[in-house]
Amino acid sequence: MTSKVAIITGGTGGIGQSTAKIFIEEGTQVVLADLDEEKGQQVAENLGAIFIQADLAEREQCRRLTKATLERFGRVDILVNNAGFQHMDPIESFPEDKWDEMLKVMLTAPFLLTKYVWPSMKKSGWGRIVNISSIQGLIASPFKAAYVSAKTGLLGLTRTTALEGGEFGITANALCPAYVDTPLIAGQMADQATLHGIPVEEVPEKVFLKSTAIKRMIRPEEVASLIQYLCSDAAGAITGASWTIDLGFTAQ
Ligand SMILES: NC(=O)c1ccc[n+]([C@@H]2O[C@H](COP(=O)([O-])OP(=O)(O)OC[C@H]3O[C@@H](n4cnc5c(N)ncnc54)[C@H](O)[C@@H]3O)[C@@H](O)[C@H]2O)c1
Repeated sequence: MTSKVAIITGGTGGIGQSTAKIFIEEGTQVVLADLDEEKGQQVAENLGAIFIQADLAEREQCRRLTKATLERFGRVDILVNNAGFQHMDPIESFPEDKWDEMLKVMLTAPFLLTKYVWPSMKKSGWGRIVNISSIQGLIASPFKAAYVSAKTGLLGLTRTTALEGGEFGITANALCPAYVDTPLIAGQMADQATLHGIPVEEVPEKVFLKSTAIKRMIRPEEVASLIQYLCSDAAGAITGASWTIDLGFTAQ
C-alpha cells in the first residue's frame, strides 16, 4: 500500500510537531510548512519529515508549498491547517496590518491550500482536511477581534468544504481546543498578566483554567491524537463537525 502524504502548516510549533510525530509513527509521509528555515530543517530532520519554508500570509507561497509537495510525492492525502498566532489589542487601536495578516494566515491560507490540494484528493477519492480553529471560534474574548474572526470563519470554511467533499471521499473537520501547552499560549501570558493586573505565574490558574472543569493545560499530544483519528479511515463518516477539546470550558 502506498503511504499517505500529509501537509501540516505551522508544522514546527507545538501542535504541529506532535501531529507530525504521530503521523510518521503510522507511516505517513509528512511535509511541515512554517516560517523559520533553520528551525524547520532541524525539526524535520529529528522527526523524519520534509520541511518547506512558507509564509502562508503570501498567496504565492501557499501555491508553491502545494506544488512542491505534489512534485515530490505526486499526491496529498491529508491537510492540517494549523498555522496561527495571537495578537491582543482593543478594536480601537488594533493594528490594521495585523488584522490583515491574521486573516490571511488563519483563514485565507486554509482556503487556498484546500483549493490547491483538492484535485489530488478528488483524483484518489480520499482526503482528510483538519482545520485547527479554537474555542475562540465558538466564543469570543475581548481584544482578540482578528483571532476570533479568523477562527469563527474557519468553521464556516470547514462546513462548506465538508459539503463539497462528500461525494469525493474528502472529509473536513475543525478542532476547537482551549489552552494547549505550546509556545503560542506561553506568548500570551504576559499580555494576560497585564490585562488582569496579576503576576505572570498566576495566569494559568486565574485566567486560563478559571472556568474549565479540568484544571490543567491540554497536552499537544492530546490534540494530535484527535487529529490522527479524524484523518483515519475509521472517521470516514465524520465531516463538517467542530470538535471541542477544551477541558470542559464550553460545557457551561
Ligand atoms: N495553544 C493553544 O492554546 C491553542 C488553542 C486553540 C487553538 N490553537 C491553534 O492551534 C494552532 C497551532 O498553535 P500552537 O499552539 O501549536 O502554537 P505554536 O506557536 O507552537 O505553533 C504555531 C505555528 O504557526 C506558525 N506560523 C505562524 N504564522 C505563520 C505564517 N505566516 N506562515 C507559516 N507558519 C506560520 C508559527 O511559526 C508556529 O510554528 C494555531 O492555529 C492556534 O491558533 C492553539
